[in-house]
Amino acid sequence: MGSNTLTITDNRTGKTFEIPIENGTIRAMDLRQIKAGKDDFGLMTYDPSFMNTSSCKSRITYIDGDVGILEYRGYPIDQLAEKSTFLEVAYLLLHGELPTAAELDGFIKHVKIHTYVHENVKKCMEGFRHDAHPMGMLLSTVGVLSTFYPDAKKIFDASLRYHHIIRILAKMPTIAAFAYRHSIGFPYVYPDNDLSYTGNFLSMMKKMAEPKYQVNPILERALDVLFILHADHEQNCSTNAMRGVGSAHTDPYSCVAAATAALYGPLHGGANEAVLKMLRELGSVKNVPAFVKDIKEGSGEKRLMGFGHRVYKNYDPRAKVIKKLAEEVFEVTGKNPLLEIAIELERIALQDDYFVKRKLYPNVDFYSGLIYEAMGFPTDYFTVLFAIPRAVGWLSQWQEMLNDPDQKIARPRQVYLGSPRRDYIPLEERK
Ligand code: ACO
Repeated sequence: MGSNTLTITDNRTGKTFEIPIENGTIRAMDLRQIKAGKDDFGLMTYDPSFMNTSSCKSRITYIDGDVGILEYRGYPIDQLAEKSTFLEVAYLLLHGELPTAAELDGFIKHVKIHTYVHENVKKCMEGFRHDAHPMGMLLSTVGVLSTFYPDAKKIFDASLRYHHIIRILAKMPTIAAFAYRHSIGFPYVYPDNDLSYTGNFLSMMKKMAEPKYQVNPILERALDVLFILHADHEQNCSTNAMRGVGSAHTDPYSCVAAATAALYGPLHGGANEAVLKMLRELGSVKNVPAFVKDIKEGSGEKRLMGFGHRVYKNYDPRAKVIKKLAEEVFEVTGKNPLLEIAIELERIALQDDYFVKRKLYPNVDFYSGLIYEAMGFPTDYFTVLFAIPRAVGWLSQWQEMLNDPDQKIARPRQVYLGSPRRDYIPLEERK
């Protein structure tokens, strides 16, 4: 009997099975041989919400939630946030290695020449109601792009596929900015390809009559760092949507639309908005102790938003970077008055037994909303600011999936608990 195996005895039959263990996992399909009788389908696992199931092998992002580690392709997130740029990180995620200077230059040029969208895409966007939610506009318009690029269906043509990946990376900020301008009734601003990725985005968001938008370098860099921090987070809900839809060999525009829809949900991309609402309701530092007491003594339905994480049972490494970044942004924008309340909440929570025992620490959303607000982004736009950089993570994961011989169309099993077979009753005979 090998030592790297699991021995299972089926007490229904008394039979014993030896199952290989590889990378700390067993293959669920190895359980299928375990049958209670000749006609039995075989043993399956039941794992709603994928609490303990690895759906893929990946070489992109590593998280150790117990100690608070996040790495892209092996590089720690704090080093990337301090020393890299979003487009360099995008290259790293897509290619697996940091680019040389020439490779990075070529990559940036490639992205920049694809920032414009077809005029009819703009017309599609003009058809939205004035108060359409920017995430609804973003996800539909990314989906619309698939109709402009029918050859995106050729997903196994590596060079064509790469071209479409670059297109999405380049056009996400344009569509996102158009959605914002639409919501406030301002004319759409075309991309300025002299500017950086985030500089151009800020220009498309804010430019009015001036011939060239003067980007504040501190805000441009802050947004770039926020984009780095949000670029990938391994197999979360939206990435799972990207891979799930992509497993049907759907084109990348439609896949990104599906992933964006997943991110739209308040349990996933919407928590930073909730943090801001909570801080506004609190209104003053003096209300913090009573609020924390209320949470602790409540029945669990009231939560400290921006605290806790399914994976991180330690300080979210992204939150550490964001907290520092907030100070730099506030130097330019003026302090967000809610910051004081946030800091006091964090101080009290981190020394409180309730939060310590449950390993509840600030997550990425605790401070990011404060920065977005200080930079003048409306609250319902926060998730869009998450979707723009995450697109490259989705696309890297999608590309990895297409090249993985282990992957097939995603098709979970179910445990059927419904009615057994019965005959159809004609309408007139039904009571
Ligand atoms: N405030 C107060 N108590 C909390 C919080 C919180 N923010 N989060 C968890 N708890 C408590 C729970 O009540 C539970 O207590 P109990 O054991 O006495 O019942 C315990 O901690 C474990 O909580 P779970 O819900 O089992 O943890 P889970 O891993 O399922 O949830 C989640 C993680 C959803 C992020 C949760 O911590 C939460 O709701 N946080 C607030 C919302 C938030 O900030 N979400 C953003 C996450 S980051 C992102 O998605 C980008």
